[in-house]
Amino acid sequence: MAEDARWAVITGASSGIGAELARVFAARGYFLVITARRHERLEALAEEIQGAHDIPVEVMALDLEDREAPQDLVEMLRDRGIQVHTLVNNAGFGLRGSFATMPFERQIAMIDLNVTALTALCRLVLPGMLERGRGGILNVASTAAFQAGPHMAVYYATKAYVLSLSEALHEEARPRGVTVTALCPGPTETEFSATADVEHAKLFTQGAMSAAEVARIGIDGYEAGRAIVVAGASNRLGALGAKLLPRAVIRKIAGSLQRGEVTKPAGEANEDA
Ligand SMILES: NC(=O)c1ccc[n+]([C@@H]2O[C@H](COP(=O)([O-])OP(=O)(O)OC[C@H]3O[C@@H](n4cnc5c(N)ncnc54)[C@H](OP(=O)(O)O)[C@@H]3O)[C@@H](O)[C@H]2O)c1
Repeated sequence: MAEDARWAVITGASSGIGAELARVFAARGYFLVITARRHERLEALAEEIQGAHDIPVEVMALDLEDREAPQDLVEMLRDRGIQVHTLVNNAGFGLRGSFATMPFERQIAMIDLNVTALTALCRLVLPGMLERGRGGILNVASTAAFQAGPHMAVYYATKAYVLSLSEALHEEARPRGVTVTALCPGPTETEFSATADVEHAKLFTQGAMSAAEVARIGIDGYEAGRAIVVAGASNRLGALGAKLLPRAVIRKIAGSLQRGEVTKPAGEANEDA
């Protein structure tokens, strides 16, 4: 395999932002490894991308809530002789509802996916990137990272972790030629809102960006070596507000934006995710 091939490994590529990230990376000449749980969706995307671009696309179906999965993924890559140029930690989900009554297992599963798997993958691939002095990591955080989120407490906390980790790794890796970027989308049209049951929350009924636009902005920022990329002007304004306003005010605003009809009992929305 060519030494200078740029392989991008994208988690959560079976829908939404992840699928669009795969399309944009492919259009920019990266070779792809796409992963998620829904194998058929990944196969269909691989076929579509290979029909449009002359690049290899490898499919690996994995459940990243499983503690062994990041190691399994890295071993599969090694077996196939794939050196990771770009890791995209995009897989994630949210849940809306009361912290005290939401099913405990779903809350822990959210931390396992949004935090633990993302951290493990960064830890597994970063040493190779640093050794080679090239490549980088694009972690999908959220504008939720900038403040506490009443009614989505654990989700917002996981994204604050992703942002903090990414910023720290950015500083550690940059002097050695490796980029780490946190992409912070606001409301985006994907399956996320149905899974999290936020379709009727004020935050989403006020309008959402397209996943394609978020992906393009994220990859532009990653390729430019930026630490934090907030997608879209109104989201950048919101992030600035979170910086300037007192925390007590900003968390109340965040909580009010999560209000709206809850259509499913807390946590059930995710059972088919
Ligand atoms: N949409 C928004 O408004 C928004 C805003 C800010 C940030 N984000 C973040 O953007 C990222 C992508 O979400 P999205 O909006 O594109 O939502 P989405 O359409 O629901 O996509 C989520 C992806 O994660 C994968 N995934 C879920 N659970 C998984 C598991 N246990 N193991 C492996 N893969 C799993 C899903 O694939 P399978 O179901 O096939 O496994 C899917 O490909 C998430 O980190 C989310 O928090 C989204």
